[in-house]
Amino acid sequence: MRSPILDYLDTVIEQTAHVDSGALADYIPELAAADPTRVAVALCTVNGTVYASGDTDHHFSIQSMSKPFAYALAIEDYGLESVLDHVGVEPSGDTFNELSLDPETGKPRNPMINAGAITTHALLKTEHGSSVERMLNLFSKLSDRRIEIDESVATSELGTGDRNLGLAHLLRATGALTQEPRTAVEGYIRQCAASVTVRDLALMAATLANSGVQPHTQERVFRRDTTRQVLSVMASCGMYDAAGDWLSTVGIPAKSGVAGGIIGVLPGQIGVAAFSPRLDMHGNSARGVDMMQKLSQDLGLHLM
Ligand code: DON
Repeated sequence: MRSPILDYLDTVIEQTAHVDSGALADYIPELAAADPTRVAVALCTVNGTVYASGDTDHHFSIQSMSKPFAYALAIEDYGLESVLDHVGVEPSGDTFNELSLDPETGKPRNPMINAGAITTHALLKTEHGSSVERMLNLFSKLSDRRIEIDESVATSELGTGDRNLGLAHLLRATGALTQEPRTAVEGYIRQCAASVTVRDLALMAATLANSGVQPHTQERVFRRDTTRQVLSVMASCGMYDAAGDWLSTVGIPAKSGVAGGIIGVLPGQIGVAAFSPRLDMHGNSARGVDMMQKLSQDLGLHLM
């Protein structure tokens, strides 16, 4: 028998079909060429059961949804205190590609904005493989399948990466960035170009919901306290300058990506992922936000 949860996810897609606002990301040419009609939604319980509807096998780049996982890896590598020496935890209130430095310390405000994520990527240890290989291995562990880079997205963004390169140079000047700017930005952009589906993302989110233990393999990927830190920063900064609106309407830690994905985490219960490529003015998927609001209302996901 077909699960009623799948029928419910079908209705989430049907009932948000009217949302056609927003625009494709145009500063990365490969994303501007995406099919705007693609849509998908998935849930994964902490027991590892995945429910998915829509274009469930459609691949798209993870983009900024990679940032919480890179932050987690940096904390596992160095401990939270050392990471806090380089990147803060305050919401910036600015768009994701602003410099947003703390004026007193010269550190980027948080690891979810580009400046903080470039800094975080550069922190990753490289004794046992490059930072990009380590991120791909991490995504593969989290989603329980081999994750690869979409080379056309990576090449496309590298070709138009001047703004991130500019941020990296300024971060180098303040002392926050520990690597040569071009190396850091190239690694960060390749991290963002990892190719995923909503199923992969729901499993990645479910690992965070499950305190860092991957629900299929039972491998502890992150320590419990690392997961708590990552979810806290996702709650306050994951949706950029829409974080307050998100927390009041959807009410769970989340992260968006400029290819149109959003992940959400209900601790102890489920990981959620939605995908639709058109973005609102904050760089978050317009229909994705609508789908998540509906899921939150219907399933009572709001934490408060
Ligand atoms: O650095 C960038 O601009 C992209 N690789 C990632 C930005 C992003 O996903 C913003 N999120 N909505």
